[in-house]
Amino acid sequence: MITGKLPGTKQPYFLKAGEGERHLFGGQLATLIARSEDSGGLFQIAVISGGKGATFPLHSHAKSREALLVLDGRLELFLNGEARLLSPGDFAGIPPGTVHGYRMAGYRTRFLVWNVNGDAGGVYAALGNPYEGFVYPPDGPGVIAESLLPKAEASLDIRFSGEQLRPPESCISATDELPKGASPYVLESGDGERLIGGDSLFTFLAHQGNSGGDFISLTTQGPNGARIPNHYHERHTETFFCLDGCMTMWAEGLEVAMAPGDFLHVPAGTIHSFRLDAPYTNFIGILAPGLFEPFFRAMCDPYEPYIFPQKPGPLRFDRVMQRLHELDLKLVDQGRPPQG
Ligand SMILES: [Fe+2]
Repeated sequence: MITGKLPGTKQPYFLKAGEGERHLFGGQLATLIARSEDSGGLFQIAVISGGKGATFPLHSHAKSREALLVLDGRLELFLNGEARLLSPGDFAGIPPGTVHGYRMAGYRTRFLVWNVNGDAGGVYAALGNPYEGFVYPPDGPGVIAESLLPKAEASLDIRFSGEQLRPPESCISATDELPKGASPYVLESGDGERLIGGDSLFTFLAHQGNSGGDFISLTTQGPNGARIPNHYHERHTETFFCLDGCMTMWAEGLEVAMAPGDFLHVPAGTIHSFRLDAPYTNFIGILAPGLFEPFFRAMCDPYEPYIFPQKPGPLRFDRVMQRLHELDLKLVDQGRPPQG
């Protein structure tokens, strides 16, 4: 397994927080942790950080579907003429055709952003310059030069609206339930569809239906516990981005310790497993294409609260085994229960 750098071809790799391909644009740092060439064209994922006042102009994508999760600070997000101040843990789903942009409203704002079904994630390289540093420079927010925008439009799935970010007429309302279809939406931290499986709380931020089947995204929160069984998937790629606590992952026989900001890419066919190692551990998974939702519905039950229980809930591994033939799940130690 490749560690410490992007591989340039679709294969398993691990990055510590800060590692990846870095570009400076408009005074902000884009750290690319998955490019098209690293994911076999499935997605691009980046961590964007910057200071208060840093902006990205209004634009839309014809095909590319975008989503973001705020990690630190505050982010004023503009969607189709409305805006909302997002806090850490807040999520936005941004389908093709949505006019969007942002202004960073906290002194150190940082968010995770991903694009599927297109090349829009290449915009940070197109609008910026390769950058050696690991944090954005201290000399205040810069401006993205207008002259660079046509170049990005010519080579990527992005169209700038030409309008300025300005105080919106209305606030984006957050939804506490995922929309049925592929419309733009914002979730406050903790909202989404919650399921309980053993000692872990799974929160869907995006269903298959929200992305036209391009991806699903969910957080997994739980206490330190047992290692899940070794397994692989034949048809979908999984990614793991640690948000809180710490965890151990195994992929292709290599063991890695994951802290917040660390990222593991697990393409189809890679044997992998994980274990949560801190009393409160939380990670986000972006899974593409979006076909693995039925696994979570088999293993878990609906759950109303926003934190996992002290006493583990049901873990319906029996239902997983019943439906194994229709799930994209290959257990390596077939039928063995999770081990400690
Ligand atoms: Fe997996």
